[in-house]
Amino acid sequence: MHQLISQFPSLVGQSATIKGWAYNVRSSGKIAFLQIRDGSGFVQAVIVQNQVDEIAWNRALDVTLESSVSVTGMVTKHPKHDDVYELQVTSLEIIQKAEEYPIGKKEHGPDFLLDNRHLWLRAPSQWAIQRVRNAIIYATYDWFRDNDFIKIDSPILTPNACEGTTELFEIDYFEERKAYLSQSGQLYIEAAIASVGRCFDFGPVFRAEKSKTRRHLTEFWMMDAEMAFVEHEGNLQIQEQLVSFIVKRVLETCSAELKLLERDVEPLKKVVAPFYRLTHAEAIRILREKGSDIGDMDDLGADDETTLTQMYDKPIFIEKYPTAVKAFYMKRDPSDPTRVLNADLLAPEGYGEVIGGSQREDDYDALIARVREHNLPEKDFQWYLDLRKYGSVPHSGFGYGLERLVAWICGLHHVRETIPFPRLMNRLEP
Ligand code: 4AD
Ligand code: MG
Repeated sequence: MHQLISQFPSLVGQSATIKGWAYNVRSSGKIAFLQIRDGSGFVQAVIVQNQVDEIAWNRALDVTLESSVSVTGMVTKHPKHDDVYELQVTSLEIIQKAEEYPIGKKEHGPDFLLDNRHLWLRAPSQWAIQRVRNAIIYATYDWFRDNDFIKIDSPILTPNACEGTTELFEIDYFEERKAYLSQSGQLYIEAAIASVGRCFDFGPVFRAEKSKTRRHLTEFWMMDAEMAFVEHEGNLQIQEQLVSFIVKRVLETCSAELKLLERDVEPLKKVVAPFYRLTHAEAIRILREKGSDIGDMDDLGADDETTLTQMYDKPIFIEKYPTAVKAFYMKRDPSDPTRVLNADLLAPEGYGEVIGGSQREDDYDALIARVREHNLPEKDFQWYLDLRKYGSVPHSGFGYGLERLVAWICGLHHVRETIPFPRLMNRLEP
């Protein structure tokens, strides 16, 4: 069996074989250096001409960028740098000699890189981003497991809309039927809480949004959570606990990745519950003071969110949006029915909305009235209305967009780098 570069700290002074890709090659006279990447880490393999046989030396000179190799040698600690190891090579095999690699050292534009996403994924920055994404996913599962949530898998093929009918991907089902790709599993996990109490789902969702912004994908990963007997205030507390836990976990386990991404970790260290809270009305007042002409009952746009989040050093909940700009299932505020018991969580440093959530309407009559106001097909929502007939309870939930969290935590400008194969309005390939 071969070894992994990540195991090098415990292999110093021993012989090891690693298998990976040469992401940088150079030689000067009698010494050659191969930078090897094996997925678990990066290491420099050193080949000295008079210490290996002629076959190994010639192979070392033959290695091209991104060739796959198997290299054996002695693991040593770098004389000057802590936590840096090297491999003093004794033998080397080329598994496949790569053709001239299209991604070079020079700067490439985003379109070129996205066209070559299948190769770009190997870049150290992209490696680091996927590792942070993975840490966020595991932290999420861990937090939910430790807090008595059960994972419930919601369907992707659905007969109706969760988040409004204008952004649905429609597909042909059988015998003239139409089906829609899920925009969020929320409605289904609302059904499951009467069985399991607290649950979450985590999977791909789809939005036919005609938005070409740095925050929008047409396919992205959402985590929806839903809790029985939890009202608006409890909903916010659960969200801030979860998000603080995720950020802390990434700081603890991904410091090398964040460093590689040149992410300033100081702002992330401040992400500790409780977060800031502003009502929508307060947010509008602040935005007007800053010169915006936003109306009292308008939704916040991306620029408004950016302005607000640049003013605070922690995430901010914006609560109680106007009923008219939010989804049909949100419960109205009993003290002001023009507003709902919802909150969007905005990430700091200009990132904006990462979570949308609310208390849900649990009264049958109020909910059916909302279904009608939104012109939704009542028949398709009968099962959802049923939940309000058989032991309805106050309940709340929220959903985070994984790519938005990754972009914020990694400090990336655009969400397209946060998902292995981004789907955008104008991109379905590769
Ligand atoms: O705010 P949204 O639309 O809320 C829901 O779908 C609720 N059903 C969630 C729930 O209560 N269970 O979407 C939730 C989150 C947003 O806050 C954002 O982070 C992300 O999903 N999101 C997107 N991410 C990337 N591209 C898009 N087009 C996104 N639309 C929403
Ligand atoms: Mg939203």
